[in-house]
Amino acid sequence: MKILHVSAECYPVAKVGGLADVVGALPKYQNNLGHPTSVVMPFYNNKFTQANSFDKVYEATLSLGESSIVFNVLKTTEKVLDFDVFFIDIPDLLYKEFVYSADDTQRFLAFQIAVLDWILSRKEQPEIIHCHDHHTGLIPFMLQESYKYESLNKIPVITTIHNAQYQGWFGYDKLHLIPEFDSSKTGLLDWNNTINPLAAAIKCAWRVTTVSPSYMEELKENANGLEVLLSHESNKCVGVLNGIDTEVWNPETDHYIIKNYDIKTVQSGRKANKKWLCDKFNLDETKPLFAFIGRLVGEKGVDVFPEVFKNSLEKEAISILVLGSGQPETENALNNLKPLFQGKYNAYIGYDEKLSHIIYAGADFLLMPSRVEPCGLNQMYALRYGTIPIVRRIGGLKDTVIDIDNEGFGLCHDNVNAAEVEHAIHRATVLYDNQEKFKTIRKHIMTIDHSWDVSAQAYINLYQSIN
Ligand code: ADP
Ligand code: GLC
Repeated sequence: MKILHVSAECYPVAKVGGLADVVGALPKYQNNLGHPTSVVMPFYNNKFTQANSFDKVYEATLSLGESSIVFNVLKTTEKVLDFDVFFIDIPDLLYKEFVYSADDTQRFLAFQIAVLDWILSRKEQPEIIHCHDHHTGLIPFMLQESYKYESLNKIPVITTIHNAQYQGWFGYDKLHLIPEFDSSKTGLLDWNNTINPLAAAIKCAWRVTTVSPSYMEELKENANGLEVLLSHESNKCVGVLNGIDTEVWNPETDHYIIKNYDIKTVQSGRKANKKWLCDKFNLDETKPLFAFIGRLVGEKGVDVFPEVFKNSLEKEAISILVLGSGQPETENALNNLKPLFQGKYNAYIGYDEKLSHIIYAGADFLLMPSRVEPCGLNQMYALRYGTIPIVRRIGGLKDTVIDIDNEGFGLCHDNVNAAEVEHAIHRATVLYDNQEKFKTIRKHIMTIDHSWDVSAQAYINLYQSIN
């Protein structure tokens, strides 16, 4: 079955968060299962596009309202990725240093129209179009309505919701930008009197998935306004847990980390990585090291950190290291703690792929007090590297981490508040003091298989059920 993924992000080409990791891994595993799988994404101005040369494979003009816009479809000249990636090049709209910006409605509408125009022109069309998040949310509608007299509307299309907080709403003043369709179908685009691409995708896609089973259930209760719609469409909705790319995320071969290790050499390997972190960030390597990696936004629960860190650093003999960027007030609050807890606490505000790998390889515990976590990949990377996750029981975290008190391997709490996170940190220090148990758990978690093998097949089964 020929599969085409449509996405705004794909690792290592362009990454903001976990969406890139998923779209950078799932196609590889689907190819390995014998299904020719490729990705189409925007052509941004970034390190990847600057470092490679590209050939033009298609050129055409698309209509965006009154405007005619020339676009190219590009492919790298050399094969640099494990699967084919096609790039939609619309210089004025997409060729930017950033992935997302304030004018995303126009940018991603043009992208989606270009994708469909290009697919229409191809002799070999995909047998499944797999769209990711609201940036590609209008594709199911356009296939069904704007391209309905073309061959395209027979191609099954599925939409994966990575995060329903972001829905891509825009006003009716931009309705004319969507390629012509029968106006009696406008309701398919509408949710609460705005055009809502994620809602349109839920209505028009042949199947809708979320990135974990628990998140699908949670969305029926709280989906930023889409609860009723999701409950109504529940027959075509299913949660498929994300996997991880165990070739990229492998402590034995990871070229980013300071010392590679496997389950037999985990002690010395992790010690070297921890030492590097502690030397670089002025922390005490004899104490348990707690880390956070991620976007500093409300849904990650990071607003509780200043209070939690202050209290825990005063009470416990621990070190804490943060890697992240996001809301300025949280960044400032985390920076302001540095002078108060020198030698015990540090934060690197920014994005650093290499550092993230070293933290997974060197920290003892990874904090994830998320308010919302559709899947979460960090906890699965942590497990593979032998870092014990401390998570709130929500979404994908609930589906992947079991508490040590339930014969599991992580530390879980139910709510996002300072007291519960502090208590979880305290329980982690007790576990750390019992080095025998701590090391047994560490070895065990490295053997848990979260590779994409199972879920890549689950998606194939889903595609086959609608083909
Ligand atoms: P989300 O997509 O909601 O941000 P995920 O857990 O699915 O959360 O994925 C986050 C991905 O982004 C992981 O690969 C994580 O290591 C990475 N990441 C997040 N913030 C940073 C950062 N500041 N530096 C490096 N990597 C980061
Ligand atoms: C989103 C979610 C995250 C998930 C990722 C990949 O960014 O916030 O929980 O892991 O998508 O599916």
